[in-house]
Amino acid sequence: MKILFIGGTGNLSLECTHRALARGMEVWHLNRGSHPGKAPEGVHSLQADVRDEAAVERVLGRESFDAVVDFIAYLPAQVEASLRLFRERAGQYVFISSASAYRKPAVHPVITESTPLCNPFWQYSRDKIACEDLIRARAGDLPWTIIRPSHTYANGWVPTAFSSSDWTVAGRILEGKEIIVHGDGQALWTLTHARDFAVGLVGLLGNPAAYGEAVQIMGDEALTWESIHRTIASALGREARIVHIPSDFIARAEPSLAGGFLGDKAWTSLFDCSKLRRLVPDFRTTISFQEGVRQSLDWLRADPSRQKVDPGVGERIERILAAWRRAMDEVWPSGRT
Ligand SMILES: NC(=O)c1ccc[n+]([C@@H]2O[C@H](COP(=O)([O-])OP(=O)(O)OC[C@H]3O[C@@H](n4cnc5c(N)ncnc54)[C@H](OP(=O)(O)O)[C@@H]3O)[C@@H](O)[C@H]2O)c1
Repeated sequence: MKILFIGGTGNLSLECTHRALARGMEVWHLNRGSHPGKAPEGVHSLQADVRDEAAVERVLGRESFDAVVDFIAYLPAQVEASLRLFRERAGQYVFISSASAYRKPAVHPVITESTPLCNPFWQYSRDKIACEDLIRARAGDLPWTIIRPSHTYANGWVPTAFSSSDWTVAGRILEGKEIIVHGDGQALWTLTHARDFAVGLVGLLGNPAAYGEAVQIMGDEALTWESIHRTIASALGREARIVHIPSDFIARAEPSLAGGFLGDKAWTSLFDCSKLRRLVPDFRTTISFQEGVRQSLDWLRADPSRQKVDPGVGERIERILAAWRRAMDEVWPSGRT
């Protein structure tokens, strides 16, 4: 089977590449080539900015694929461009959506593919829903599959409430600084290692039972946000200094974070993946969060240049902490007994 990943060297797509190669597939990547040396041996690399349709058309030439996985489409116009490019070049078009598209506030904590899609809080999720609608309406004869991952990480990611793809929160824990966990920390959350995700995704490629279907792919480990942060701290050999702050307060203090908290992380999200297991019987959770995050932290600590701090994330955390202290002092001044 000949497959194309748009992306290929990213958080999800790199593990999918390893899995597809291990399954004997012929793997092609389409990306800008900003990560030389990251694609495993044997991958055919095409170089173009996917937002430049003419350039993509040029590098694709007369190539065609049994399946094309669009990892980096976020807006309907981007999906439209992919449909134009791949209608005659793909046996299956696979769109990576997001489990954050499911209805918020959640009406039931257990989510299946038939849970309605509606997220009044988060533009990112509404755009993914619009992409899904467009595929259903416009793909025509092109077989398609929609994948909805939940929070998924690989080496180099430290998934926390405030950031995942950088070192900021890990660095704060190591420096003994406070970190924020939203609410009382007891909402349940699903984290999936990209290596497990990859088994599900690759199992759906060229799988006629997945044509015309949306499929969610995630592990079966439900963790509280409190335990996620304590697990990370413990893997770093530190105690986490957790400050609980309501999601509504975070959203008011930092409106840019409102979507991610009120439209996603504030709610308990448990997923019933029986559809995936029916379609890909060898899918299972093999990497616990404790093990996966330890591997990721080991990888990051092996080379300090990998530990990228995002100053914006740190500043936002500090601003929310300061606002929270002021609000707490207002109702109960510190020093009062
Ligand atoms: N991780 C999660 O928790 C999660 C949860 C739900 C949904 N998702 C979805 O998963 C998808 C992300 O997948 P991912 O993590 O594998 O991707 P990623 O890490 O965000 O993407 C990076 C890959 O895309 C390439 N790329 C980026 N911009 C490009 C451009 N303009 N033209 C060509 N190539 C470009 C990069 O290579 P170059 O830089 O070399 O171009 C790299 O190969 C998104 O659709 C996201 O919404 C993720």
